[in-house]
Amino acid sequence: MERLVIANWKMNPKSLNLAIVLAGSVKRHLRDTHGVRVVICPPFPYLAAVGRQLKRSGLPLGAQDMSSEEEGAHTGQVAPAMLKALGCAFVILGHPELRRESGETDFMVNGKLRAALKAGLVPVVCVENVAQLMKALKGVSKSSYGKIKVAYEPSWAISTRKGAKPARPNEVRKMVQRLGAIAPSATFLYGGSVSAKNAGVFLKKGMVQGFLVGQASLKPREFAHLVKKTGFG
Ligand code: 13P
Repeated sequence: MERLVIANWKMNPKSLNLAIVLAGSVKRHLRDTHGVRVVICPPFPYLAAVGRQLKRSGLPLGAQDMSSEEEGAHTGQVAPAMLKALGCAFVILGHPELRRESGETDFMVNGKLRAALKAGLVPVVCVENVAQLMKALKGVSKSSYGKIKVAYEPSWAISTRKGAKPARPNEVRKMVQRLGAIAPSATFLYGGSVSAKNAGVFLKKGMVQGFLVGQASLKPREFAHLVKKTGFG
């Protein structure tokens, strides 16, 4: 199965110019990586320019969230079709930071997941436990599970949280087994303080097929290292 690394830039870099420079640098550093698909997810205002910069690089573009609505009176929201028009192939949904800071509920994540599948976007749904995955998949046909990427991302493991440390590999293995029992054909990723140093241990025995990466995705050299480890680990 193909390995996958999703770069979640969150609300970085600080300016459009810096985002374009970062995309160019990431593209150059990843030139010689094989066996792994790398998706770049910049903030909404940078999508178009980063997408142009990544053209012909083979690095798909993704968004960090979207609306479950197709159009209409939804101030501040971004519709799935708008993301498609900007060249997005992937969309991160239910990130723990959105659940915490913006009151994103399981019901909302479920609506967004179904909307992403309908629009032909690959959903990367973040969950911290089995209940969240079950709720996210409500009403989704089992035949679509193969299109879904599930990131086990415990909020306490996110590097920018005070006292954060990565989940223990054993913990990840157990949780991914439980999540996998619900949606066996989905692809499973791990997110939370992943670095080039610890990536290899999570890939052992097919525990996960890749990563959702925050901080380390903002440093092109380290990120390329992490990606290489993922490809050949
Ligand atoms: P870190 O890799 O910085 O821990 O962030 C994880 C994350 O939130 C990815 O979406």
